Amino acid sequence: MLVDRIILKNFLSYGVVDISPGPGINLITGGNAAGKTNLIDSIYLSAVGKGSRNRDNKEYVKWDSKGGSEICIVVKKKYSRHVIQTQIDENGNKRISVDGMPLTRIGDLMGVLQVIFFAPSELCLIKGGPSERRRFLDISICQQSKTYFYTLQRFESQLEQRNKVLKEYKNKPTLKNIIEAMDDDLLRCAAFIIDERKKFIEEITPLATKIHKELTLGEEELTIAYETEPIHGETFEELKRLTADVYDRDVENGYTNVGPHRDDLKVVANGIDLRRFGSQGQQRTAVLSLKLASAEIMGSRHKESPVFLLDDVMGELDDDRKKALLKTLDGKQVFITDATHPEGLGKKVKIFKIQETEVQDK
Ligand SMILES: Nc1ncnc2c1ncn2[C@@H]1O[C@H](COP(=O)(O)OP(=O)(O)OP(=O)(O)O)[C@@H](O)[C@H]1O
Ligand SMILES: [Mg+2]
Repeated sequence: MLVDRIILKNFLSYGVVDISPGPGINLITGGNAAGKTNLIDSIYLSAVGKGSRNRDNKEYVKWDSKGGSEICIVVKKKYSRHVIQTQIDENGNKRISVDGMPLTRIGDLMGVLQVIFFAPSELCLIKGGPSERRRFLDISICQQSKTYFYTLQRFESQLEQRNKVLKEYKNKPTLKNIIEAMDDDLLRCAAFIIDERKKFIEEITPLATKIHKELTLGEEELTIAYETEPIHGETFEELKRLTADVYDRDVENGYTNVGPHRDDLKVVANGIDLRRFGSQGQQRTAVLSLKLASAEIMGSRHKESPVFLLDDVMGELDDDRKKALLKTLDGKQVFITDATHPEGLGKKVKIFKIQETEVQDK
């Protein structure tokens, strides 16, 4: 799939923008603070429903502008075209529509435009806490499955509710009945989420291992494992038993100790746990391998390759890894931001230069 056109109005640093990206590499250049990441964010937001950086909706509206902000992205697929429109008003209310139809549920956006996003901040996928790795799993699976998206949403809201009840009813005799009534559905959602994540990891592991080998010119063997620690439990029955076992602790902590919200992903290269002992370059390469592998899964399921967004990634890789990455991305639509014009992008690259918040198509 391709992002065929981007129209922005009062989005972040931009007044009015209307550009038509090319099908291959699109290089977005401009000095620091020119608005390169902002442009990438307009695509990311249209695909995922929220920006890549943690911001309040209101902050996407251009400062000192009148009215709200608008993003319009035209997506071209093999057999269809879609228009994703996002409007954010001054109060931060966001409305998204696809092909003119307002979305009532954000899950319906999943899959309209699929993106794979790389940025230095994504290193947290390896370096950060378990929630970062769960986020990777969840975003990857949500983009392929609306059922997963809605189940995850249901699980998260029920979990929040359960924790609230544990805290509020701590010393009340009705607590156990309320929790028991809630747990059946919660644990069914939990078992489904764990099962889907495990299936996804089974699918992604050989692909990530292969890509990682290519990116490291055969030097590193990458392995990935789903960890349901500290308490193991996967099926509905197991989760039910474990939940009963830790009931007293849950009450004491005012927190749910068993479930997919505690799980993690272990990423190992040549026997080394990359989170603890990997070099920056190794960690960065592992992030790329995982994301490229997730893109391959998306591509093969939907018979369309996702769009790649590479924010500040090229300058951070050594020449060999850069070359290997570009080879892997050959034939795909890629948006690359760089303050300079890096070597080796080839001749077919389309360049967009940002000057004083205007995007010039060079
Ligand atoms: N709501 C907003 N209205 C207007 N300008 C904004 C808004 N939010 C952010 N900005 C501006 O956008 C600029 C940052 O843009 P962006 O992050 O896209 O820069 P960049 O080109 O990616 O820079 P770098 O090379 O440093 O990564 C900030 O300096 C800020 O002034
Ligand atoms: Mg930037």
